[in-house]
Amino acid sequence: MAAQINPSILSADFARLADEAKAVEGADWLHVDVMDNHFVPNLTLGVPVVESLARATGTPLDCHLMIENPDRWAPQYVEAGASSVTFHVEAAAAPVRLAREIRAKGARASMALKPATPIEPYEDLLPELDMLLIMTVEPGFGGQAFLDIMLPKIRRTRELITKHGLELWLQVDGGVSASTIERCAEAGADVFVAGSAVYGAEDPAQAVRALRAQAETATAKASWACDH
Ligand code: DX5
Ligand code: ZN
Repeated sequence: MAAQINPSILSADFARLADEAKAVEGADWLHVDVMDNHFVPNLTLGVPVVESLARATGTPLDCHLMIENPDRWAPQYVEAGASSVTFHVEAAAAPVRLAREIRAKGARASMALKPATPIEPYEDLLPELDMLLIMTVEPGFGGQAFLDIMLPKIRRTRELITKHGLELWLQVDGGVSASTIERCAEAGADVFVAGSAVYGAEDPAQAVRALRAQAETATAKASWACDH
């Protein structure tokens, strides 16, 4: 699969979301960070904004729920128009049931791990998912520094995906930029969220293209991608 770039609208101007979505036309997905001020110490947006944004843009929405009780709320984001919904495993009461419900409603089901959450206990759950998100910062804010110590987890997750022959996308989120995206791709990520690196750029659409080119070059050289 070609490298995918998902600009995070957390770094966009919330008063001009439709224009900000247009500014990154050509991106694979729009990454929408939903925060409830409980699971993370920050508050962003909810179902009504996702509903409006889904109507305002042709780019599919990748909703990253940093909220408590995703078992209750995640299905509503599918109904609001999200094409992919990510819940945090640390917050989910029944991750398998929730992933199945998201898929049954017609969206891609994705599960996120905070930096201190290991992948190994979830190996058997991976076939239930369409994407696994490895946080490369503590969730809650844009513009934080990339955590290099997450690279081994990305590598081990890629090995599990290969071992089980899964069609699972591996997303990284947090501090992804021109100076870190190659390390992520080399380690095994294939979906890259970038907030400040895209919306902080003078030309966000060009920043998306440049990040994609960097990721694809790094992937082409990576051993995990050459194996098959
Ligand atoms: C952080 C969010 C990220 C954030 C990334 O908790 O999940 O999606 O927008 O922002 P950058 O790319 O600036 O680190
Ligand atoms: Zn996010």
